[in-house]
Amino acid sequence: MTHPAPAAPSSPAAPPEAVGPLIRCLTVLRELSAGGGRQAVGDLVRGTGLARSTVDRVLSTLARLVYVRVEGRDAVLAPRLLELGNAYLAASGLPDRLGPLADRLADELDESVSLAVPDGDGVRFVHQATRRRAMSLAFRIGDLLPAERGAPGALFADAWDATDWERWRRRRAADPTDAGFPAVPPRPDDEAESATSPTAVFKSRVDASRAAGWALDDQLIEPGLVAVAMPVRDPSGRVVCAVSVVSHTSRLSAAELPGAVLPRLRDTVTAMELALTTPQAAPSAPEPGAAEGASAPSHASWMRASKQELGPEFVESMARGLITLTAFGTGRAALPLTAVAEATGLARATARRALITLEHLGYLASDGKLFRLTPKVLELGFAHLSGLTLPAIAQPHLAALVERVHDSASMAVLSGDDIQYVARVPTVRIMSVNITLGTRFPAYATSMGRALLAGLPPAEVSARLSLTDLRPLTRHTVTDEEALLGIVRQVRADGYALVDEELEEGLRSLAVPVRDRTGEVVAAVNVSTHAGRTTPADTRDTILPALRETATAIEADLAVAGRYVRIPVL
Ligand code: PHB
Repeated sequence: MTHPAPAAPSSPAAPPEAVGPLIRCLTVLRELSAGGGRQAVGDLVRGTGLARSTVDRVLSTLARLVYVRVEGRDAVLAPRLLELGNAYLAASGLPDRLGPLADRLADELDESVSLAVPDGDGVRFVHQATRRRAMSLAFRIGDLLPAERGAPGALFADAWDATDWERWRRRRAADPTDAGFPAVPPRPDDEAESATSPTAVFKSRVDASRAAGWALDDQLIEPGLVAVAMPVRDPSGRVVCAVSVVSHTSRLSAAELPGAVLPRLRDTVTAMELALTTPQAAPSAPEPGAAEGASAPSHASWMRASKQELGPEFVESMARGLITLTAFGTGRAALPLTAVAEATGLARATARRALITLEHLGYLASDGKLFRLTPKVLELGFAHLSGLTLPAIAQPHLAALVERVHDSASMAVLSGDDIQYVARVPTVRIMSVNITLGTRFPAYATSMGRALLAGLPPAEVSARLSLTDLRPLTRHTVTDEEALLGIVRQVRADGYALVDEELEEGLRSLAVPVRDRTGEVVAAVNVSTHAGRTTPADTRDTILPALRETATAIEADLAVAGRYVRIPVL
């Protein structure tokens, strides 16, 4: 039994080779992304027009890929899905090569600077160096603007042909409030009063921008928000992206902005165009993906194991199609069918059908031989997921840990001499104080504190401890500086810290560090339990494996989520 996806009125029919399950899978992912990353399964069924059984199969396949979690009645996008957008960003080479130059410009001007690429009749952000002081919205990587709202679109529309302009007019007529662009406030309905047609207005901005070599946004998105953008060309002269400097009328008016920023913006564009003349760094190995290891043979065995375990609830053609997108990356921007088949371990015919389907849906473009990812890949949850904080990423993993060990689990970060709780999943309360988010304890007397201290350079640990007021909190608290240094050294060697009744009588806690993709310790996670029930060695033996797995799972999410986005701790 098949359930054809409802075709949007204007979307051309799928080619006969297209893979139906893959189309339906992407319909669900798009719907979930448009719904803010979380939706009741029932709403997904209504929103996509697919059968309940189809949506269930899509969700169980996506859950197996760790792209989605099912929490009770809700389906939730999971951070690992960012690997699809990461593949596009890596393949484009834009954030990797131009991002540092954009960041430098933001530092020099002390204003926000962004990179955006054309995406159909829209503009999609691929890099943000944000300095937002005055109240204004900040766009995230993956967010989409209508071309006519914002500075970059006036530069990109210069390359439009009659068909592109027609598509733009149709979209405006079909969506008069820009509801299809959730990142921008609704379009004000002030055109009725204007004597000039919106097309004439936008076309004259396009002409003026071509003549000037830069484009202005005078509060086209929201009151107060102003921007200047310049195009960045590749060695062939094609505009590949725009770099925008964004300010607020409380600092600079639209009239003042170009004079204030253009000289430095021009220098930056020159440096960016030079950066684009040097070939990308050597092709990196594909990032380890959801299908662990991500090498072609392991893809195949992961696929078999998944099918064996889940049966009809694992749809291989969906998983294969999505994995196809991860064949692209740094130095792997344009791939022939053979290279995609090789990288994914898929049979040529299978890879071909996946590529044709993804091209039909607009996630790939091809010249008939070589395939490239398009920025549309970022519409698959990237903007939403790239805004996740460290605690939000950790929370579901801590909840799963608590289910396993039946004791409370937490995450904390170092803050001065203290640890500060940033995430917590409680069970029964065993402490006299109620721990809430933001609760602080002295680092030296806690397991998470010692795990965090062990992540610092040894010299810094002694410097910190020598300045800390080391006081006994119970009869058991270690307060001798030398002894504590020895303990922290041991924690570094063991990779975990166990603290027994040093913070509070009757309380035992076991912690491990959590590292970001560079290996730096950014947080610690712990499980706290009653001291009376078992020996410390028993606690370690029963809880440490699950705690380590939790830290590893959080680290895997951080590695994917942190590739192009700085993940806030709070
Ligand atoms: C932004 O990066 O937030 C931005 C860029 C261009 C605009 C407006 C905002 O025109």
